[in-house]
Amino acid sequence: MSFRSLSYMILACLVVTAYACNQEGDEGDLRNIAYEPRDYPLVTPRSFGPLPESPDNPMTYDGVQLGRHLFYDPILSSDSSQSCSSCHKPEFAFTDGKAFSTGVTGQTGTRSSMSLLNVAYFTKGMFWDGRSATLETQALEPVENPIELHDSWPNVEKKLRKHPKYPELFRKAFGISSKSEITRDLAAKAMAQFQKILLTGGNSRYVKQLNGETFFDPDEQDGMEMYFNTNPALPDAQCGHCHTAPTFSSSDYFNNGLDSAGKPEDFKDPGRGAVTGIPLDYGRFKATTLFNWHLTAPYMHDGRFATIEEVMDHYTLHVKQAPNLDPNVANLKLNTRQRNKVIAFLKTLIDTSYLQNPDIFSPF
Ligand code: HEC
Ligand code: HEC
Repeated sequence: MSFRSLSYMILACLVVTAYACNQEGDEGDLRNIAYEPRDYPLVTPRSFGPLPESPDNPMTYDGVQLGRHLFYDPILSSDSSQSCSSCHKPEFAFTDGKAFSTGVTGQTGTRSSMSLLNVAYFTKGMFWDGRSATLETQALEPVENPIELHDSWPNVEKKLRKHPKYPELFRKAFGISSKSEITRDLAAKAMAQFQKILLTGGNSRYVKQLNGETFFDPDEQDGMEMYFNTNPALPDAQCGHCHTAPTFSSSDYFNNGLDSAGKPEDFKDPGRGAVTGIPLDYGRFKATTLFNWHLTAPYMHDGRFATIEEVMDHYTLHVKQAPNLDPNVANLKLNTRQRNKVIAFLKTLIDTSYLQNPDIFSPF
């Protein structure tokens, strides 16, 4: 055999070995798996309108399914003990029912978990202080947060590439051609797509009443008129200025009078101020949704109120002074009967029909 043909043979062997390695290792080819993207059959709550657009992350059926797997899979945590769903449980409107959440190391944070229902409608940031711009960037955070999942993305990417099922799910969701293309950004996009299907409100008595399918009793009617300040004969309960229809939340940040402060540094939790550095933003937080409030106790960013009555007592009796206290909570005067009418109206914002969508639950 000539030297030349020997070197060809060696070269051929090398190519074959490299190809074989390729098949088993991180680079594994996925092109034999069909990629046929189709729309997710999304139904937005009646009266809400379409979701805000996200052109760089179009929602597909398989994207949602991948996100659903990741959301419920403890593979995202350092010791495989926790997933997103440990702190965001469907039966609690995707909160955890606690004042403070506990991460994988047993460490407790200083903020309360947030409802993820209708989270797709927030346009000015995620978290109580809005420090993450979008759901796509937000989903990157919990994995590396030491008081949440406490892993590292390079490590999670490695686990996902080696997994028997995930490469196929990523291929179907995003049309990637090899395992090496599984990245944190695609994982985050998929989790964002999943969270966009967590919608509620269209079957609430409030929306049914808007559509003439049910009628409010006099207390609910008075409560609504106070909530939205539409009846000059009744006091303004102010709520509608911040927890605004149709989502009964706001993408903006307010100081709703929880703590006294003479200057920005006095706030125990700086809230929005830590993100913008603007003195008037200290102690401001997101006005979260009031749909399904009966499942999101304890209330506020630090879970300080156990019941809706305590929340109403706060707004009507215990608002604390600060330079940036919102004028809409400064002078709220309701008697007990009026307070109870507002609560009667809040009960029309309950809609647990989201629990009938099987796609919101764990696939495992
Ligand atoms: C250890 C508990 C815990 C885990 C695990 C966790 N979260 Fe959260 N989540 C929280 C808390 C607490 C907040 C509020 C934190 C803040 O504002 O600083 C939050 C806030 C959010 C928000 C913001 C909602 C809004 O209205 O602005 C989203 C979205 C979210 N989490 C999604 C996720 C996803 C996706 C995962 C998994 C990758 C996850 N969470 C894992 C506790 C947790
Ligand atoms: C000035 C704007 C503003 C007004 C007016 C207002 N809220 Fe709020 N609300 C907020 C903000 C901001 C938060 C979050 C505050 C925090 O946690 O630090 C909040 C939180 C809440 C929460 C807790 C939500 C949760 O899941 O923890 C409830 C319940 C609530 N408000 C009900 C009401 C009701 C009822 C009214 C009318 C009586 C009202 N709010 C008026 C801004 C407002």
